[in-house]
Amino acid sequence: MLLFPFPPLERGADQSVRFLTTSLLSSALFPIRWRRRSIFGSDCAKPREMKGLFITFEGTEGSGKSTQIQLLAERLRAAGRIVRVLREPGGTPIGEEVRHILKHSEQSHAMTAEAELLLMNASRAQLVREVIRPALAAGDLVLCDRFYDSTIAYQGYGRQLDLNVLRTIIEFAVGATRPSLTFLLLVPIEVSEARRRARQPEMSNDVPPGETKPEGHTPPVIREPWRDRIEEAGRDFFQRVEDGYGAIALAEPRRVLAIDSTQPVEAVAAAIWRRVEPLLEQTKTG
Ligand code: TMP
Repeated sequence: MLLFPFPPLERGADQSVRFLTTSLLSSALFPIRWRRRSIFGSDCAKPREMKGLFITFEGTEGSGKSTQIQLLAERLRAAGRIVRVLREPGGTPIGEEVRHILKHSEQSHAMTAEAELLLMNASRAQLVREVIRPALAAGDLVLCDRFYDSTIAYQGYGRQLDLNVLRTIIEFAVGATRPSLTFLLLVPIEVSEARRRARQPEMSNDVPPGETKPEGHTPPVIREPWRDRIEEAGRDFFQRVEDGYGAIALAEPRRVLAIDSTQPVEAVAAAIWRRVEPLLEQTKTG
C-alpha cells in the first residue's frame, strides 16, 4: 500500500481510493505555505490564446510515464489529433545537449544543486519558446514527460533549495505557459529503486528499449551509461522527492491527478483517458 497524503488516487473504473485522508498527516509533512496553495497561484491554467492542450506527466523513475505517454499519444493520433511528444530536460537540440550535461557528462559529478536548477530551467525556457508555444498556438496536443513539477520535487524537496527562489526561476522560464493537466504516476519507493538498480551499466542511447525517441533528440546521439547522476542519489533524496510530489498534488488537485501506477498498464491508461477525453472537445483543431 502506498502511504502518501495524496488526494484520492484514481483506481479502476469509478473507484477512488484515498490512502490517507486526514489533513492531519499533511500538516505534519508539509509546511503551511504549501498546503492548498498552487505553485503559481492558479490551479489548472489555460490561457485564452492557447488553442491546443498541454498535458504533463510526472513521477519518480520507473513509474511508467513513458509507457503511458506512448499509449495516450497513439490514442489521440488515432482520434485524428496532432500530438507532440516531448521530454524534459531536452525536447530541443539545445535542450538535449543540456540534458547530456545534466545526466551523463563526465564533469557533471561536480555540479552544484544551483547549477542543476538553472540548467533544468534553461532547457525548459528553450522548449517552451521553440516548441510548446507554437504547437499550442496551432491547436496541437502537447504531451511532456516532466515539466516544472519535477523542479519543485527534485530541486526543491530533493535538493532542498529555497522554494520561493525556484518559483521565481520557473516563472521566468515558462511565463504564462502552464500545463492544463498533469498526471502524477505513483509507485512505492521500492519499485522505483529496483528499477534504478536494474539498469545495466552498459552503454545506451539514453532511450530505454521499446520507447520511441522524443522529438528534439539530435542525431548523432551520444552513447551514454544507463544510470545517470541524478539516479545515483540516495533513498533520503527520493523520499523527499516523493514528499514534494505529494505537496504538489495536495496544493493543486484540479490540475494534478495522482494515479496508482502499480495497477495494470491498461487500468492506468483508462484513468488517464477518462480525464483527457472530455477536454478534447474544448480544444480547437487547425
Ligand atoms: P528522465 O527523463 O529519465 O526522467 O531523467 C530526467 C531526470 O532529471 C530525472 O532524474 C528527474 C530529473 N529532473 C530534475 O531533477 N528536475 C527537473 O526539473 C526535470 C525536468 C527533471
